Amino acid sequence: MRIGVIDSGVGGLTVLQAVQALVSADYLYLMDNRYLPYGEKSELFIRQRLAQLSAHLIAEGAELILIACNTATTQAVAYLRELYQLPFVGTVPAIKPAATQFCQSGFVVLATPATCRSAYLSGLINEFAADCQVQRAGSSVLVQLAEQKIWYQQDVTAAVATELQQLGLTNSTLPAMVLGCTHFPFLAAEIQAALPEIVLLDTADAIARRVKALVGASSIGSGNHHFISTAELDEKQRLRLSSLGFSSYSCWPAPATSY
Ligand code: DGL
Repeated sequence: MRIGVIDSGVGGLTVLQAVQALVSADYLYLMDNRYLPYGEKSELFIRQRLAQLSAHLIAEGAELILIACNTATTQAVAYLRELYQLPFVGTVPAIKPAATQFCQSGFVVLATPATCRSAYLSGLINEFAADCQVQRAGSSVLVQLAEQKIWYQQDVTAAVATELQQLGLTNSTLPAMVLGCTHFPFLAAEIQAALPEIVLLDTADAIARRVKALVGASSIGSGNHHFISTAELDEKQRLRLSSLGFSSYSCWPAPATSY
């Protein structure tokens, strides 16, 4: 079975790794690096772009699409489900589990600027955490730092600490933080170094269970996973692909989106 996975960058790999541990399939990972970061784009842009990227994965044989991106899910998943017949699994901030454990003390949602201002996130908070103290913090800097860490193996510890300080989070007394962007679990060690007491929550394992429930036990993969980017990778990035679990690579310069 072919499963398509979409994110603007490497963040979706934090979800893919959890899904791969439970579901055997051939994964097609589509990274829209041409338009990274999504967190700075409009809802209309993200909806149109995701429709275009999904059509490409369907043409490549994907039978299920995992939107491994909170920003794209909050802005576009309902639209994609109206447009296409196949199942879409989305990724949304772990508000419900955070509210279950930390409602009394409150928690932070660290996400992209677009996710922070989305109606979808407000809806989740109203539904599951209406009586809790929830502090939203939006950052595209952290998205870029995760990219630098994963592709170029840079030490981003100090830069992450500076950004958390800029966001006012180093003074926060809230005991838990929802990582509402799939890039951020890659920075868990750096976040934890800056905020040693904080409990971090993400949804990768829950998404893996959801994908498994949808595809059943019958899915079989050949072990070959293909990586697609929408802008050419540089030499260093190409060399990293095999250690990230991919056996082949192509660049698909999707037509520019003008929204
Ligand atoms: N990985 C993404 C997310 O989960 C988006 C990062 C970005 O492109 O801003 O929100």
